[in-house]
Amino acid sequence: MKYLVTGAAGFIGCHLVDRLLERGETVVGLDNLRLGRRDNLRAALANPRFRLHVVDLNEVTACAVLVAEETATGPFDMAWHLAANSDIRSGVADPDVDLRDTFLTTFNLLKVLRGQAIRTLAFASTSAIYGAHPSLLTEDLGPLFPISNYGAMKLASEAIVSAALETHLERGWIFRFPNVVGSRATHGAICDFAQKLRRNPTELEVLGDGSQQKPYLHVDDLVTAMLFIVENAKDRRNCFNIGTDGSTTTVRYMAEAVVRRISPRARIRYTGGDRGWVGDVPKFNYSIAKLRALGWAPSRTSDEAVDLAVEEVAAEVWG
Ligand SMILES: NC(=O)c1ccc[n+]([C@@H]2O[C@H](COP(=O)([O-])OP(=O)(O)OC[C@H]3O[C@@H](n4cnc5c(N)ncnc54)[C@H](O)[C@@H]3O)[C@@H](O)[C@H]2O)c1
Repeated sequence: MKYLVTGAAGFIGCHLVDRLLERGETVVGLDNLRLGRRDNLRAALANPRFRLHVVDLNEVTACAVLVAEETATGPFDMAWHLAANSDIRSGVADPDVDLRDTFLTTFNLLKVLRGQAIRTLAFASTSAIYGAHPSLLTEDLGPLFPISNYGAMKLASEAIVSAALETHLERGWIFRFPNVVGSRATHGAICDFAQKLRRNPTELEVLGDGSQQKPYLHVDDLVTAMLFIVENAKDRRNCFNIGTDGSTTTVRYMAEAVVRRISPRARIRYTGGDRGWVGDVPKFNYSIAKLRALGWAPSRTSDEAVDLAVEEVAAEVWG
């Protein structure tokens, strides 16, 4: 099989690329390297079945030419669309960021896929589309009112993918990720905490009061779930929450785990308030009943995923 992966140099993209290559597939990655890192793809770049093109997805003509050239050596079987702005706070400060990198990347990729007759697409969506909803989040919940520009532009992206399924796409998978943790992360609370302690080993500033509580899934489980869903969910439109089966972790737990591992004498200072920043959803939990019914369950609880990710990130940041 031959796959197109956007956002290939990002945190989740590089793990997906590695897993596809391990399975013997051919992979072409697209990334502008604004948030992703070439170094994340060190192993993949040594593999003759992988090529990375450094390009912005909003340069539609350049992308179309690249994908057409790659298609000439053999058609793509499907595309995985992971490129987006992953820094929710930067999108709150400047709404253009999510319009450009979260929505228009999807809109423009769909044009490129249409031009090259690539008819299957897997799309990385997010819990942020649900907004601050008090109940357990199920895929059929609605109406949805996101509270961040990022969540709004992901919901708009789901909508445009859905519309493309009426025209040029034959099958689509929308994955709603929870918070994802693990090695080669480019962002997220564990990374932030580790970087802050590197700068100041005596004090860790934590945004909010530490009570924020969400499901954290290890990236290995996430990629396994994505591949499982694509292999087993065969409707034209497939939409799945991917999560931890009920377990969640508090920000306080994460901060204490990072301090214990990296700088045990550091004092933790909470800035206060029930959320980290404007647009942050302080508490949510997913139902993954639909995914369970398909036959998949995560291998770790949320706390276990965080514990493992703290080890991995600490090893990367501190050696
Ligand atoms: N990490 C999480 O906890 C999480 C949670 C929910 C959803 N997601 C979604 O999963 C996907 C991957 O997230 P991630 O954590 O790996 O983030 P990431 O920032 O590490 O990866 C995204 C990649 O997309 C690239 N990119 C962004 N805009 C681009 C553009 N205009 N053209 C080309 N490349 C561009 C970036 O350079 C980066 O390498 C994203 O769509 C994100 O919204 C992630």
